[in-house]
Amino acid sequence: MSRLVFLGPPGVGKGTQAVGLAQDEGIPHISTGAILRDALSRGTPTGLEAKKFMDAGELVPDEVVLRLVKDRLSEDDAAQGWLLDGYPRNLDQASALSGILSQMDQSLDHVIYFECAESELVRRLSGRRTCRACGDTFHVEFAPVAENNSCKAGGSCDIYQRSDDQEDAILNRLKVYQRETGPLVEHYREKGHLIVLDGSAPIEIVGSALRDALDQTG
Ligand code: AP5
Repeated sequence: MSRLVFLGPPGVGKGTQAVGLAQDEGIPHISTGAILRDALSRGTPTGLEAKKFMDAGELVPDEVVLRLVKDRLSEDDAAQGWLLDGYPRNLDQASALSGILSQMDQSLDHVIYFECAESELVRRLSGRRTCRACGDTFHVEFAPVAENNSCKAGGSCDIYQRSDDQEDAILNRLKVYQRETGPLVEHYREKGHLIVLDGSAPIEIVGSALRDALDQTG
């Protein structure tokens, strides 16, 4: 059983690594960004409320995201573990998460913090492409779509570029990350939860280092 948080700047590879690890561990990959994008594509009130914040690269208000996370962690498939990707993103969210977990009589096992230089993050985000159907992410240079373009959801991947992967939004997301999310590194280090990984290595190397680190910590 694992209860994990993935922490790190936009574009560091949290989603890329989360998909495979969640599958291997048999736990749900809970990405608040993906939940919000899904709500937006379905035109729900939450999705529409979140849109202006997401397009600008700002954080969606804490109370909106907290509701989503609380509901998702209460689902049956999360009873035996989960991987939170993109939550918490500031100290108030970290304290809200700790409150939800104590109400559910659960505790966090590890926070995996992926580090990477900012210039590389911009390169990754501006080249990222995402599939509307299965949610998988690709990169025009580092992780191109397979030649047969087959999609996990069936048929062919429907590739698009996220609206917040435009240059202005990318630069703002990096600033917001430094200001709001950066302090969580020390917060979780002090609590003894933090595992630090080099996110700048190639995808497969980061994946092996992640599994080795989790094996060593038990
Ligand atoms: P979210 O979807 O969470 O975006 P993010 O945190 O900005 O993270 P990304 O998805 O951009 O990056 P990633 O680290 O997952 O990288 P990826 O694996 O895709 O959030 C979007 C928005 O929703 C936020 O801005 C905010 O508005 C809102 N939101 C979400 N959660 C919220 C919260 N808790 N509170 C408030 N608002 C919230 O990889 C990126 C690219 O690099 C890909 O193309 C990939 O193929 C490539 N790549 C990955 N790893 C490597 C590697 N090792 N080498 C080379 N290329 C790589």
